[in-house]
Amino acid sequence: MQRSLKIIAIIFFVNSSSLWAHSGATGIVKERMDNFKESKASMKLLKKAVRNKDFDVIVKEAGSIHRWAEKLTTYFPEGSNPHPSEALDLIWKEIDRFELRAVDQLEASGRLRQAGMERDSKAAASAFSELGKSCKACHNDYRE
Ligand code: HEC
Repeated sequence: MQRSLKIIAIIFFVNSSSLWAHSGATGIVKERMDNFKESKASMKLLKKAVRNKDFDVIVKEAGSIHRWAEKLTTYFPEGSNPHPSEALDLIWKEIDRFELRAVDQLEASGRLRQAGMERDSKAAASAFSELGKSCKACHNDYRE
């Protein structure tokens, strides 16, 4: 009796924990989620690097976001938002505006990388702030 209860508890735990991770996402949806997670990690490193004027990290991480921004919209083929995706249908109703949001991200990350190369801490701080806004702007409109 004890033993079977334990097994049931384990099965329940394994099943419910998979609800929390975004496991279940496959193919292109999984790939874009992974890229966004990398962006999030880059933003964390950039925040510190901008504060510490660590220009090498700025160039590297801004470059990584820049490369993702160049191809971001190609990871959103029409209708690719079944569960567990958090992308809204609105993306494909106003795809031009969605693409402009990606362009904002491309430009801000480009400016940040440039500021890093020029070792200009003031320009870096301002570009970092623009970059953060570009993430939020797109999420506000197009993510659940
Ligand atoms: C052009 C629009 C756009 C921009 C710009 C954008 N995002 Fe997103 N982001 C989305 C959408 C849409 C989703 C939901 C994707 C899905 O669930 O299919 C998302 C999801 C995410 C996720 C969740 C990934 C997961 O595992 O489910 C993270 C984290 C994230 N974005 C971080 C960022 C960061 C950091 C930036 C800025 C550097 C950024 N995003 C810029 C549109 C954008």
